[in-house]
Amino acid sequence: MLDQGAAPPSTDTATHSSPGLGTRLMRRKPVEQLVAEGGQGDGGALRRSLTMGQLTMISIGATLGTGIFVVLGEATPLAGPAVAISFVIAGLTALFSALSYAELAGSIPVSGSSYSYSYATMGELVAWICGWCLVLEYGVSVAAVAVGWGEYLDELLAGTIGVTIPEAVSAPLGEGGLINLPALVVVLLAMVFLMGGAKESARVNTVMVAVKIVTLLLFIGIGFMGIKAGNYAPLAPLGVTGISAAAATLFFSYIGFDAASTAGEEAKNPKRDLPRAIMLSLLVVTVLYCLVALVAVGAMPWENFEGTEAALAQIMKDVTGQSFWGVVLAAGAVVAIASVVFAVLYGQTRILFAMSRDGLVPKVFARVNPRTGAPRANTVIVSLFCGLLAAFIPLGELANATSIGTLFAFALVNVAVVILRYKRPEMHRTFRVMLFPATPVLGFLFCAYMMWSLPAATWVVFGGWMAAGLVFYFVYGLRRSRLAADAAH
Ligand code: ALA
Repeated sequence: MLDQGAAPPSTDTATHSSPGLGTRLMRRKPVEQLVAEGGQGDGGALRRSLTMGQLTMISIGATLGTGIFVVLGEATPLAGPAVAISFVIAGLTALFSALSYAELAGSIPVSGSSYSYSYATMGELVAWICGWCLVLEYGVSVAAVAVGWGEYLDELLAGTIGVTIPEAVSAPLGEGGLINLPALVVVLLAMVFLMGGAKESARVNTVMVAVKIVTLLLFIGIGFMGIKAGNYAPLAPLGVTGISAAAATLFFSYIGFDAASTAGEEAKNPKRDLPRAIMLSLLVVTVLYCLVALVAVGAMPWENFEGTEAALAQIMKDVTGQSFWGVVLAAGAVVAIASVVFAVLYGQTRILFAMSRDGLVPKVFARVNPRTGAPRANTVIVSLFCGLLAAFIPLGELANATSIGTLFAFALVNVAVVILRYKRPEMHRTFRVMLFPATPVLGFLFCAYMMWSLPAATWVVFGGWMAAGLVFYFVYGLRRSRLAADAAH
């Protein structure tokens, strides 16, 4: 097998003019080549403008949203007051993989994130599969999150002007409506801001993230006054099984901490800042989640979460006795979930940018607008795809598939860390996973276990998605791969 992960670019191309299929599928893109190509698009380059603070905000922006505002309400009936422990367990799964992400993002700071790490370590086919899973993690989750946004918008409108959005325009066909207009609107709004480029996008994102953090702090402060010690007993009425089931559901709320790693080509000092941004965002998010969960189950008996929509808003109303505070929370949630759409959409465009530069998806995704330094055509295509998906398709199983796709990508990142340590021990690393190799091995096992725990229907959707991805690769990517073309010359 070619050891291209260990070789400089020139050695790759000299010796294999007509490699066989196996060799082509396993062809690795050297780390040096990945890094050297960083930023280069078709017609211009991405601009390096993002600071460590902004990178952290991108990760928090992509993470903190539907999980805490919506999914917490669904997970609490599964675990009881111990739902806070479920958040810690789901957070641990994220933590092991976050450490691996941090090491690789500091060593290979490019837009492709885990797709590029896989390309450097496991070859083109695995990289493609990883990139295809990232479309589930990012593209499909944007659509799922946008649907959740519509629900909170409805709550906000009802609480302020007493209007509810008619079902016909707030749900897709098959779920009682014709189109989910709010979901389409939030994606298109995000598109407009993203067209301005990374710097402008980061500013908008930072404001939105600040709003959502303040909203949750407000919830913690007000909810704290409503805590009744009796609500914590019994702590785990549904036992360990309940706690794990809730943890698997809550894993969704951690998806997105890796978003900073898609900004590697727009960061000012990526090698130093990406690992810090990934770890810091995970810390902030985990602390907030646990505090919110502890306060929520202390202020409202866990049995009451069943069937309560917008549970956090309800708690604010109950504790203060004023509906005003429920409206404040709904407004915060609207901003919070919009910011997830925004940051995750950003990540999706950058991953496709990297894949396009490698020739695995059409060239249009790597086209950069010279004036803004943003991949504009890419942004429009991705936004329309996600917007239409959210507007017209009942997402049910597809939303669950987001978690399985993410876990698969995380598992590959854990493997990639191990491979790169053995293949390239001498490489400079700004962040090193501690207790190597135990940490990435545990990270891999956690991901595998979580995937295993997901329902059979999710696996069927995942299998279908993978099959479609493989067809696309063999029909398109394999022939157009730039690495393959370079090697042939
Ligand atoms: N983690 C993201 C959210 O909870 C997907 O909205």
